[in-house]
Amino acid sequence: MKFTAFNGSPAGKDSATNRIIEAFLKGAEGAGAETENYQLAEYEIGQCQGCFACWFQSPGKCVLQDDMEKLLRAYQSADVICFGSPVYSWNMTALLKNFVDRLIPLKSPLMTEREGNFDMADSEKRTQKYVAISNSGFPGENNFSIIKVSFSCCNPCLEIYRNCGKLLKSKQASVQDRVAEYLSIVEKAGREMASNREVCGATKKQLSMPLMETREYVQFLGM
Ligand SMILES: Cc1cc2nc3c(=O)[nH]c(=O)nc-3n(C[C@H](O)[C@H](O)[C@H](O)COP(=O)(O)O)c2cc1C
Repeated sequence: MKFTAFNGSPAGKDSATNRIIEAFLKGAEGAGAETENYQLAEYEIGQCQGCFACWFQSPGKCVLQDDMEKLLRAYQSADVICFGSPVYSWNMTALLKNFVDRLIPLKSPLMTEREGNFDMADSEKRTQKYVAISNSGFPGENNFSIIKVSFSCCNPCLEIYRNCGKLLKSKQASVQDRVAEYLSIVEKAGREMASNREVCGATKKQLSMPLMETREYVQFLGM
């Protein structure tokens, strides 16, 4: 089984998002999965031109010649796809959104309808599972409202929304213990996903463990 992550944080490998992704992939590797982790910031990904040539002129192939060709191959060969992004202005980063737009060669001009909701059809039947990973700079849950709706379009089997995300990169010893505990739960989720193709309810619940009291976090941020 192959797990492939696409991290849309401009901070790439050094991002808080990547700390979560790496823990998740480590867990999956521990259960025998093959893993790949793409930092989208390291790739040249032009903006979709909206020409639909990838549907009507050269099905499956974009007119733009950039790194997306390689990333599309990686995307197609994955069994589990992890989308990662910090919350930027209440949503996913432009980097991840741009990447998602450029997945359109994998769709077809056919429209699907389910209970009055319309969507694009996949060009080929897909069995891939999706995992959504995000972190927010602020405490609380409201900053994930929009990103949750955006990710719901791929019907993720696991969603990891980490508030107080600034703590993930903190060098303070007291904070690091708590972060290590959290990341060990993320790792467990990766292991379960690779072993059972799903994560149990108890582990999902543990993923929402608080990292710090809100008042303390506000002080930590110095805001
Ligand atoms: C342009 C920009 C917009 C942001 N908007 C939000 C926001 O709406 N809500 C929030 O909680 N944090 C916001 N943040 C903070 C980031 O989510 C936070 O710094 C996060 O930990 C960065 O994660 P990363 O290291 O994975 O990039 C914003 C940061 C930037 C640079």
